[in-house]
Amino acid sequence: MKKIVVIYAVSLLAVACGAPKVVAMQPNDPVVPQMPSPPKETNTAMIAQGKGLFEDNCAKCHKLFKPTDFNQREWGPILTSMQRKAELDNDQMDLVRDYVFSSATP
Ligand code: HEC
Repeated sequence: MKKIVVIYAVSLLAVACGAPKVVAMQPNDPVVPQMPSPPKETNTAMIAQGKGLFEDNCAKCHKLFKPTDFNQREWGPILTSMQRKAELDNDQMDLVRDYVFSSATP
């Protein structure tokens, strides 16, 4: 008879300890808004990379222009002709364009 009482007491304890754990597992909600952030981070990193390329390669022959000096429509052909002068490959130029277009108006 004593054994049954002990088992009953132990299982009561287990239930008592188990219940708060289940509740504690629930507040995971703050994780959810962080889900879409990876693409954003990639974008920011790419713009930072483009800025670096721009600053390193685009002030060799003249002053460093600002992305806001021209709008995106004007920058298009300028970047095409400056790519040849700066000897940047297409991937590098895409990063420069991302950076310039991130500040220039359409
Ligand atoms: C080898 C020298 C050289 C390099 C490197 C160079 N440029 Fe130029 N850039 C020029 C010359 C020369 C001009 C003026 C004549 C022309 O437009 O070709 C010019 C003009 C410009 C202008 C003014 C265009 C206008 O219509 O007033 C901008 C903006 C410009 N460059 C941006 C850049 C950017 C961005 C880069 C880097 C990707 C770059 N340049 C790299 C030589 C260079």
